Amino acid sequence: MARWRRSSAITVSKFLCAAIIIAFYLLYTAFHRPAPSPRKLPLPKRPSIQLESWKNGTGRADEDRREEVRRAMQHTFWGYRKRAWGHDDLKPVSGGFQDTRNGWGAFIVDSSTTLALMGLWDELDLALDFIVNDVDFSSPKGLVDPFETTIRYLGALVSLVDLADARIIPPSIFGLSRRSALIHKATVLGTSLLPAYDSPTGLPWPRVNFTTKQGEADPPEVYELDPSKPRRKNPAIGPARAGSSILENCVLSRLTGNQQFCKSASLAWAPLIWSKFFVKDAPGLVDSPVDIVTGEPVGRDKQWDAGHDSYYEYLLKASLLLSGTPEAKTYTERWTQAASALRHNLSSRASASEHELESHLYAGKLHGPWFVNEMSHLACFAPGNVLLGARALKRPDLVPLGLALLDGCRHVYAASPLGIGPESWSWIPSGGQRAGAFEPKSQRAKDELAQHGFWTAKAYYKLRPEYVESLFYAWRITGQSRYREWAWEAFQAWERWCRTELGYAGVQDVMAKEGEVRLDDEAESFWAAETLKYAFLIFEDVKVASLDDWIFSTEGHLFWRGAGRKGKNSKDKTREKEREV
Ligand SMILES: *[C@@H]1O[C@H](CO)[C@@H](O)[C@H](O)[C@H]1NC(C)=O
Ligand SMILES: *[C@@H]1O[C@H](CO)[C@@H](O)[C@H](O)[C@H]1NC(C)=O
Ligand SMILES: *[C@@H]1O[C@H](CO)[C@@H](O)[C@H](O)[C@H]1NC(C)=O
Repeated sequence: MARWRRSSAITVSKFLCAAIIIAFYLLYTAFHRPAPSPRKLPLPKRPSIQLESWKNGTGRADEDRREEVRRAMQHTFWGYRKRAWGHDDLKPVSGGFQDTRNGWGAFIVDSSTTLALMGLWDELDLALDFIVNDVDFSSPKGLVDPFETTIRYLGALVSLVDLADARIIPPSIFGLSRRSALIHKATVLGTSLLPAYDSPTGLPWPRVNFTTKQGEADPPEVYELDPSKPRRKNPAIGPARAGSSILENCVLSRLTGNQQFCKSASLAWAPLIWSKFFVKDAPGLVDSPVDIVTGEPVGRDKQWDAGHDSYYEYLLKASLLLSGTPEAKTYTERWTQAASALRHNLSSRASASEHELESHLYAGKLHGPWFVNEMSHLACFAPGNVLLGARALKRPDLVPLGLALLDGCRHVYAASPLGIGPESWSWIPSGGQRAGAFEPKSQRAKDELAQHGFWTAKAYYKLRPEYVESLFYAWRITGQSRYREWAWEAFQAWERWCRTELGYAGVQDVMAKEGEVRLDDEAESFWAAETLKYAFLIFEDVKVASLDDWIFSTEGHLFWRGAGRKGKNSKDKTREKEREV
């Protein structure tokens, strides 16, 4: 009996001990949940995107050039810090500031992921402190543009969390309290943007009033800025504005477990993806703009250029981020169709000029059945996107298209006396099979055409990233050193012509002669978020921010692909970064 009692008492106390230990463990894990590492997800096999065989260490960093770019970022950051801290953008010539992105400090948020990749920890610490303590995303200055707000602010916030979870940002800068504060900020912003998607079709409203929590039409100043914009009965929206929120919102859903964000953003572009209005001879290309009440196109423009660009960009990137879902298959199919239309219907070879023996390939536009022989700097994202798709979807036949379009973008840079590409340009399509909409009218245009095989339509440069972005994809995918060289040439041109005492400014005319160069007193946040980031990554070791692991948003923010491919490029140089701290 006694024996039994003793042994049962031992059993009971053992049981109690175990229960207490389990209870403590549960309590501990409830309060000390380790940051869910995106690396712990299963690893499906997928095609390698970056070049696999970097010979003789060619994929290593070019340290001198990388440091030059890093110093340019420091110059940009500290000039802004001195004169415009807390405002959206610095005016880099006068030293004033602007608040055109609702006054939440667009520069600070948008540039933060670049600071993280460059390992600029003091600067990043200041930025994170500002975001956590000083920004109130529930109260904007003015109406909110859901497109700009999603790509610049929301994308940066969720990307910071992914970069910290991957230990690219060390825990000493980005601990658990900052992590939860960032997720909270992103949730407040994402939730405040949800009314944008509350339209009869799900297509987003052009603006949201955060006070009334309602979607609104374009405000009057949009028509003042662009008098050619037709006034319509219902708001109408272009594909880029409708289709560039899915990555950011689906990452927010992954981080919060709240599927509403991803769902709303998926429904927002559904009327374009499953459109009844595709024309048979160029399927996948969306007629724009689209009425957000009826879902019907009210314009006849089809292109991969301004206003349409990131819809096509995100078809591919969403198919990679959401790979394995039924929607992803449709996104892949649409992108493939649109890439084929880019090749067969939009790309146009210029007639050779008197002085240029080589003729270059550009991406034009369709207006109804008419070909429009004009391309803008924005469309220079397309070569990089085509190269990404060629690798990710195993379509090597698309590589020559991507490289040829990139060569066209390079040509407009190389033809400029400053070494900087213009905002937009035109050419005479060769072959004569397609009449172009534009002809060179002025003497200047005729001279440029004779000299270079194209003429500038808008001759300014506003620090845009798309050319160097595509160079980044070309370098990481082909490993050909010329892309590093071209990026270095572009970077040196920015240093020479755009640098001011307080930062970097756009130039008014890239065809100006030395001594006649005039600057614009403006620098949008994409200079720091994208242009400098891609330039830096070109000279960084190819293992850092590998395309096999990360998807870059249309604003250059990085999202974890959710699974690491086991291969040479799949390991980030995370540990090295940690040691540097
Ligand atoms: C790599 O280095 C070896 C030995 O130095 C040399 O023979 C070879 O040509 C190099 N390969 C490339 C692709 O540069
Ligand atoms: C939002 O709506 C409220 C109520 O109609 C109005 O008072 C306010 O001015 C609007 N906000 C903006 C920025 O237009
Ligand atoms: C697009 O190109 C294809 C192949 O050349 C052609 O059959 C089709 O008619 C073109 N579509 C348009 C809208 O130009």
